[in-house]
Amino acid sequence: MSKKILITGISGFVGHHFIAKNYSNRQLFGTYHQNKVQFEDILSYPLAITDTDAFLALLEEIKPDTVIHLAALSNPNYCENHPENCQAVNSAATFHLITACHNLGIHFIFASTDLVFDGKNAPYTEKQATNGIMTYGMDKAKTEHLAELMYPDQVTIARLPLQYGWCETAPNFLTNWVNALKAGNTIKAFTDEYRTAAWAGDVADGLLLLAEKEAKGIWHLGGPERMSRYDFAIQVTKLLNVDPALVIPVLQKDIEMAAARPADVSLNSEKAFKLGYAPGLVAERLRMIL
Ligand SMILES: NC(=O)c1ccc[n+]([C@@H]2O[C@H](COP(=O)([O-])OP(=O)(O)OC[C@H]3O[C@@H](n4cnc5c(N)ncnc54)[C@H](OP(=O)(O)O)[C@@H]3O)[C@@H](O)[C@H]2O)c1
Repeated sequence: MSKKILITGISGFVGHHFIAKNYSNRQLFGTYHQNKVQFEDILSYPLAITDTDAFLALLEEIKPDTVIHLAALSNPNYCENHPENCQAVNSAATFHLITACHNLGIHFIFASTDLVFDGKNAPYTEKQATNGIMTYGMDKAKTEHLAELMYPDQVTIARLPLQYGWCETAPNFLTNWVNALKAGNTIKAFTDEYRTAAWAGDVADGLLLLAEKEAKGIWHLGGPERMSRYDFAIQVTKLLNVDPALVIPVLQKDIEMAAARPADVSLNSEKAFKLGYAPGLVAERLRMIL
């Protein structure tokens, strides 16, 4: 039977990776906020997630089986400087959406983050305790805990890793790196920050898999390799065939940022791999997208 899936924040970087994933067994819908999008295959609606009544009206109109909740303030430095706004959007508003879906029997998938961890005990399994060290990670963890406490067995918490991809309309760190390197400019990359990065297209497939299987509870959707930001950047130079010396190795402490950065929030995603989640290797995926 075809499932209707509503994706909040379809206009964002991850959301764009759901384009062309509208198969016969599912019908995708999306929401945007300040950046209107019009995709050929995904009907999208305006929505401020702080407006629960508008969300309820949308649920009434679409009648989705599943909501994949991507919409968020996703920049940790912005969140650190605007904690009240972060709490209002990433925690309070999100929790109202979870409650609305619970009351209507709609499966809710919450896009959380590897940044709910402090970076001291990687690779992290779903069983380890959260201990975020910046506002963004702490607010995401707060929403996770409340959802688990109030609606155990009803909600899916999908902890997403650092993602990369190529999207002109929703650029991310890879876009800036590639543009700089192609222009012959240097970039700085941390040698002491490790992640299990994944291509956002694979993560989108992982989220759709969780929707299809109605897999509740906590799931890690990390990539298959633990890698430093520096090593990732070197892989990019290889693909672009540019001088690796353009990548300047730096330490986290060398660059001042509003939000504290954990050293290693690599995820152990074996549980999702066993379910069928199959993110590609970085070199493989970079070859595909660059
Ligand atoms: N990208 C990553 O590497 C990464 C890693 C871990 C977790 N995540 C999580 O994955 C999700 C998607 O991330 P992303 O990189 O796609 O973020 P993004 O590019 O910043 O996109 C954020 C999305 O949220 C929407 N949004 C923001 N505030 C809103 C509000 N008040 N009401 C309604 N919509 C609002 C934006 O809409 P408009 O643009 O239309 O305003 C946009 O569609 C987030 O929950 C993020 O925390 C991302």
